[in-house]
Amino acid sequence: MVSILCVLFSFFFLCLHVSSADTISADFSLSGDQTIFSSGGTFKLGFFQPGNSTNFYIGMWYQQLSQQTIVWVANRYKPVSDKNASVLRISDGNLVLLDGNNLVWSTGLNSTSAHEAVLLDDGNLVLRDDSGSVLWQSFDHLSDTWLPGAKIRYDKRTKKSQRLTSWKNSEDPSPGLFSVELDESTAYKILWNGSTQYWSSGPWNPQSKIFDSVPEMRLNYIFNYSFFSNATESYFTYSMYNSRNISRLVMDVSGQIRQTTWLNNNNQWNLFWSQPRQQCQVYAYCGSFGICNDQSLPFCQCPQGFRPKSQKDWDMKDYSAGCVRKTELQCSPGVINQFLPLTNVKLPDNLEVWGITSFSMCGSTCLGNCSCTAYAHDESSNRCLMWTKDVLNLRQLEEDYSEGNTLYLRLSASDMPTSSSSGKSCNKAMIFGAVLCSLWYYYRWFFQELWHIA
Ligand SMILES: *[C@@H]1O[C@H](CO)[C@@H](O)[C@H](O)[C@H]1NC(C)=O
Ligand SMILES: *[C@@H]1O[C@H](CO)[C@@H](O)[C@H](O)[C@H]1NC(C)=O
Ligand SMILES: *[C@@H]1O[C@H](CO)[C@@H](O)[C@H](O)[C@H]1NC(C)=O
Ligand SMILES: *[C@@H]1O[C@H](CO)[C@@H](O)[C@H](O)[C@H]1NC(C)=O
Ligand SMILES: *[C@@H]1O[C@H](CO)[C@@H](O)[C@H](O)[C@H]1NC(C)=O
Ligand SMILES: *[C@@H]1O[C@H](CO)[C@@H](O)[C@H](O)[C@H]1NC(C)=O
Ligand SMILES: *[C@@H]1O[C@H](CO)[C@@H](O)[C@H](O)[C@H]1NC(C)=O
Ligand SMILES: *[C@@H]1O[C@H](CO)[C@@H](O)[C@H](O)[C@H]1NC(C)=O
Repeated sequence: MVSILCVLFSFFFLCLHVSSADTISADFSLSGDQTIFSSGGTFKLGFFQPGNSTNFYIGMWYQQLSQQTIVWVANRYKPVSDKNASVLRISDGNLVLLDGNNLVWSTGLNSTSAHEAVLLDDGNLVLRDDSGSVLWQSFDHLSDTWLPGAKIRYDKRTKKSQRLTSWKNSEDPSPGLFSVELDESTAYKILWNGSTQYWSSGPWNPQSKIFDSVPEMRLNYIFNYSFFSNATESYFTYSMYNSRNISRLVMDVSGQIRQTTWLNNNNQWNLFWSQPRQQCQVYAYCGSFGICNDQSLPFCQCPQGFRPKSQKDWDMKDYSAGCVRKTELQCSPGVINQFLPLTNVKLPDNLEVWGITSFSMCGSTCLGNCSCTAYAHDESSNRCLMWTKDVLNLRQLEEDYSEGNTLYLRLSASDMPTSSSSGKSCNKAMIFGAVLCSLWYYYRWFFQELWHIA
């Protein structure tokens, strides 16, 4: 009788232990389809595959949401190909991910005292020693998502900030080109490729308790914002007034930061706020030679004579590789290069001022220099501007925008539109209707045929 009770009890406790496991320890490692849950059941940690990718990553997601939403990735730089052959466990004082015998990812501590890794209900994975002190936490190593309760810190001694970094694309969590961090002046800034800033929150204003350039923070009954600063560090954090509301801030693959909240009625994320507002305000969103146009979808296009450098990335909405010429430029006597005018654009960055010349001199100077890939002529100052490197951050402006310029892109003659005048009139005709355009071509063809017969 006693032994039966014993078996029943141990079975009960075993079940309880398995179903409520929030801990990776010497006794429990994670492999294949196994997962751990946070104690309140909010978050889950285990292997996942992003989109149609064949790669596996250790990730964290909301347990209850119908749509798998990854908030943290451990091995974002290095996936594994077989989750059954891989294991996440405590080893040598660290939490490590092994693929067979190969080390894929580690918490990278010198300590030998790590005892267990616990998934907390706010989405923080903490590594503790025997005494319960925290040796490492995922909140100090954020991926692209900032959950309520996490802090993005600026360390005043090292002058370094924590960062959120976008995924490369929807199927690849490795770091993309966009990141957000806190700076010395207490402002958040979004950077392209770790250096070029294209948005700032403005500094924290202790009186009004908002960031200067984010006035919409004032009208809010959902988020409890707080800013902390002392001699060694500063950080900003937020929490939900109503703990049942689910919200997250993501450094998105679009280069925008997006605060979204989960709507139970619709079973989907709802955009609450995002910056920068317009897609084309994201620096170099369309990559080298890509044209960004806020009035069109997709936002990125390659100029005539160019194609996406990587069609696969382009199809996944990762435009960062930009466009390349269909025919590579050749610069030798006898090879004809011409210039494709792009009208009403915002001139791209990294230009060089050639000097003061007339418009025609400017064109022939560019043509005569093999490293010149594009030029523009500034009418007001008569300056000749040219580009010798990548043409980045090219934006198409709206029709009535008076500050637009014309950029002349160097192309192999074979990639030029056959007849620029008919092409142009056709473009105009397109606005009024495709019918007119095809009529025009038909008309032209008809007369050409007549001419041939004659
Ligand atoms: C995965 O592939 C299928 C079929 O090729 C496609 O319909 C679907 O949109 C893809 N899913 C994602 C997330 O890209
Ligand atoms: C991993 O194991 C599960 C269950 O044991 C099995 O269904 C699955 O096919 C295996 N996956 C691979 C990639 O071997
Ligand atoms: C660990 O120790 C080694 C040698 O003692 C040192 O070079 C390294 O910087 C340490 N790493 C960390 C993360 O403290
Ligand atoms: C980003 O910057 C690094 C140098 O910091 C450079 O090597 C790399 O080419 C840059 N990436 C792009 C897409 O320009
Ligand atoms: C707002 O956050 C601060 C700092 O985290 C906290 O002290 C305060 O109690 C919170 N207020 C409410 C109403 O939750
Ligand atoms: C600043 O605050 C942090 C805790 O957030 C603390 O660890 C640190 O010692 C403080 N620095 C000073 C100089 O008070
Ligand atoms: C927050 O939660 C309350 C109560 O569950 C709900 O009525 C409200 O719509 C939620 N707000 C948001 C922004 O999700
Ligand atoms: C072409 O332009 C580059 C960049 O301005 C300049 O360094 C180079 O000397 C020019 N070459 C010729 C042949 O003018």
